[in-house]
Amino acid sequence: MSEKAVPKLNSYDKTLMSTPDKSISVRAVILCSYAVGKSEVRNLSLCADVLSAVDCMRALGASITLEGNTAHVIGAPFRSCSLDCGNSATTARLLIGLLSGLNGVFGIDGDESLRARPMRRIIDPLRLMGARIEDTDGHLPVRVIGSALGGLEYFMPISSAQVKSALLLAGLNCSSSVTVTEKVKTRDHTEIMLSKINGEVSVADNTVTCRNSVLFGNDITVVGDISAAAYPLAAALALHGSCTVKSVGLNPTRTAFINVLRKIGARVSIDNFTDCDEPYGDITVSGGKLRPIIIGENEVPLLIDEIPVLCALACHIDGVSVIEGAGELRHKESDRINTTVAALRSLGADIDQRGDSIVVCGGKPLVFGKVDSYGDHRIAMAAAVAAAAGEGCVIQNADCVAVSYPSFFEEVIGV
Ligand code: S3P
Repeated sequence: MSEKAVPKLNSYDKTLMSTPDKSISVRAVILCSYAVGKSEVRNLSLCADVLSAVDCMRALGASITLEGNTAHVIGAPFRSCSLDCGNSATTARLLIGLLSGLNGVFGIDGDESLRARPMRRIIDPLRLMGARIEDTDGHLPVRVIGSALGGLEYFMPISSAQVKSALLLAGLNCSSSVTVTEKVKTRDHTEIMLSKINGEVSVADNTVTCRNSVLFGNDITVVGDISAAAYPLAAALALHGSCTVKSVGLNPTRTAFINVLRKIGARVSIDNFTDCDEPYGDITVSGGKLRPIIIGENEVPLLIDEIPVLCALACHIDGVSVIEGAGELRHKESDRINTTVAALRSLGADIDQRGDSIVVCGGKPLVFGKVDSYGDHRIAMAAAVAAAAGEGCVIQNADCVAVSYPSFFEEVIGV
């Protein structure tokens, strides 16, 4: 098991280049592999989840050549095969949706953590379209037997960009169209990318429709990952320092984290804002005394990946921070309510769960400790941020950061 020592940092004043966005990279690999013709994907993330997507698309028949962070992709009609999605739920769920309406039989599996994640949320609505999917008690491994799909109008009971995306991709090969309505508008990278590569997509408020369409390859440049930028930005605030992360994606469905920082009194500025289909800019934060973090249930879907690091920051803010209605965190790479609480408690934090809410009594000094990441990249990185602003720690099972941010320890912590 890999261990990483995180030192106590006394100050934080850094300028970093962002790491490429994982969600957009996975979508680019999948959609360009399916599209007719050639695509070039620039600034592709080379994190483990994206490499899992690359392996799957090669197994399906696409040609993908990696040259540094550029992928040259040539789409191909997919062949029957077995796919290993590793730790990547985005890859598994989007592929189950896309493959449901194609010719062929596809086995889809993943690692132990991915096998524990719920798949009924996509399988049930796909079956309403006529999809033939054999599952393992609502989990992977699943077998998709490609078949003719009808259309679908679906109100999503859970706010999830992965579910929305799986259904929209099934819509590409259905007899008419798929219309999905969400309670809260989640990240819309799939809609944006589909439009760019000839998908027939229309959006009205929280409702998206994708019609049967043929995709054509195009060039895509991936912006920086705001969920990854959250770690150095939070570290700077916890240490009363400052940090700039350059070229971070600022798609409005991803920027709730910035709004939270502003709400608690941090100074946040955006420079070099570039408005395009996926807008981006440089984020700078600095702050003195911050107010506790209060997040309501409706805000959780837009902050879903940032909650562990917000809890880490809350440990360093005087007062009681509360994150309410975060039950969806229980279905991530680990049960992130349990693992966030356990990891930060190993550092002496006063943090508890009440039902599906998390309560942090912040401002008490942390202690040096050994922290189990439970194999979950976001828990390892959140704990490292909390400990760097405390007394340091040793992270057990630290290699998992490669799932989304391979250079995390070197660039963010400096080890
Ligand atoms: C993702 C959506 C979110 C997020 C995950 C990536 C995506 O999951 O937590 O890290 O790429 O669409 P859900 O859709 O399950 O909320």
